[in-house]
Amino acid sequence: MALRKSFSSVNVSRNLAKNAVAATCSASTRNNSSWWSGVEMGPPDAILGVTEAFKADSNPQKMNLGVGAYRDDNGKPYVLPTVKIAEQKLLDQGLDKEYAGIGGLPDFCKASAQLAFGEDSSVVTKGLNTTVQGISGTGSLRIGGAFLNKWYPKKQDIYLPTPSWGNHTPIFKHAGLEVKAYKYYDPKTCGFDFKGALDDISKIPEGSIILLHACAHNPTGVDPKPEQWKEISSIVKQRKLFPFFDMAYQGFASGDISKDAFALRYFIEDGHQVALAQSYAKNMGLYGERAGAFTIVCSSPEEAQRVMSQVKILIRPMYSNPPIHGARLVSTILNTPELRSQWLVEVKGMADRIISMREKLKSGLQKAGSSHNWQHITDQIGMFCFTGLKPDQVEKLTKEFSVYLTKDGRISMAGISSSNVDYLAQAIHAVTK
Ligand SMILES: Cc1ncc(COP(=O)(O)O)c(C=O)c1O
Repeated sequence: MALRKSFSSVNVSRNLAKNAVAATCSASTRNNSSWWSGVEMGPPDAILGVTEAFKADSNPQKMNLGVGAYRDDNGKPYVLPTVKIAEQKLLDQGLDKEYAGIGGLPDFCKASAQLAFGEDSSVVTKGLNTTVQGISGTGSLRIGGAFLNKWYPKKQDIYLPTPSWGNHTPIFKHAGLEVKAYKYYDPKTCGFDFKGALDDISKIPEGSIILLHACAHNPTGVDPKPEQWKEISSIVKQRKLFPFFDMAYQGFASGDISKDAFALRYFIEDGHQVALAQSYAKNMGLYGERAGAFTIVCSSPEEAQRVMSQVKILIRPMYSNPPIHGARLVSTILNTPELRSQWLVEVKGMADRIISMREKLKSGLQKAGSSHNWQHITDQIGMFCFTGLKPDQVEKLTKEFSVYLTKDGRISMAGISSSNVDYLAQAIHAVTK
């Protein structure tokens, strides 16, 4: 009522009215007659909730293994030296801050496609790719969802691996696609359920869309082997499925950008037309810069141009055009030969540190006296390890040892350092013995 009254009395000056509305809005929130009184409290984000609880803990030995962001061996966020050099270069050039085009920076897009498909790939040399800059990996997936929703010629069902990155389902549902699942992870082995995946994929209705993690599967850290990828490619072809690759960790998984792009490149070689979302959050440490790319591979340059025109039409009302700074950093690094070579060393350094933490954690568990098989810790790859810990063990780990992780038993390997890996091993042993 109070709100209505204030609206009807909007006849003096605009500012007065605005103030009145603001005042009555806050009053009406209290008396439950706000426009938003029907808005329900949503659940906290599963991962950010873990960070909140971590922050509130006063134990000096506490560990936050929830969030997927790289830390150096001192547990500190890491700005890559090449990023710092590129930043200085940009500053020295005195660039303006004009808008990018709707599709982003052309040099960035070209370098992104080359990085993903390989410089000699026919996709790039024949101009078959439609590549736009996206708002990191998430935004690039979302553009893909929007494009598939509008232009995919069949019913838009997208099949995700079980489990998948927690944001995949909301992203694709938000884009209007129907989200379904195929088997991927085997809790019994903490490894890839190859047979289950092939069985399920072979039953997916023809013409559906299948999402594939190109490497460093999140949350499991479990990737198919090259020979397994080949069989997956063959079944995807038989079923006439459309493959959408999410490549958020190129270089960050094995330390080798080509090895990590194997699946994507093999699918191209095998004759698939694919969609691809890329992110530079992890492999360049550009988390907050939101640099990423979305690509659709077309059958001709002419088709690529038509597709590009429609992708731009979808982007324009969403966010008009993407931010320039992160893309300029990526483009400077990838297009400056010395910086590119240095970056390859730096990304390998991050991957190697994570791989060495896997080995230390496994041997720490053995040293602590654990008789369980922890082989999966070193078999898995990338930012995360799916430990196989059950929810009650996770709870104990947090309550008794101040080790914070998501309920599914996923730990971010990047949050472990030489100084706390033994503490973690002992804590895991204590809750699993
Ligand atoms: C599988 C996967 N895809 C996409 C992303 C997107 O990340 P961002 O939007 O930060 O680039 C992530 C990040 O955790 C991821 O793990």
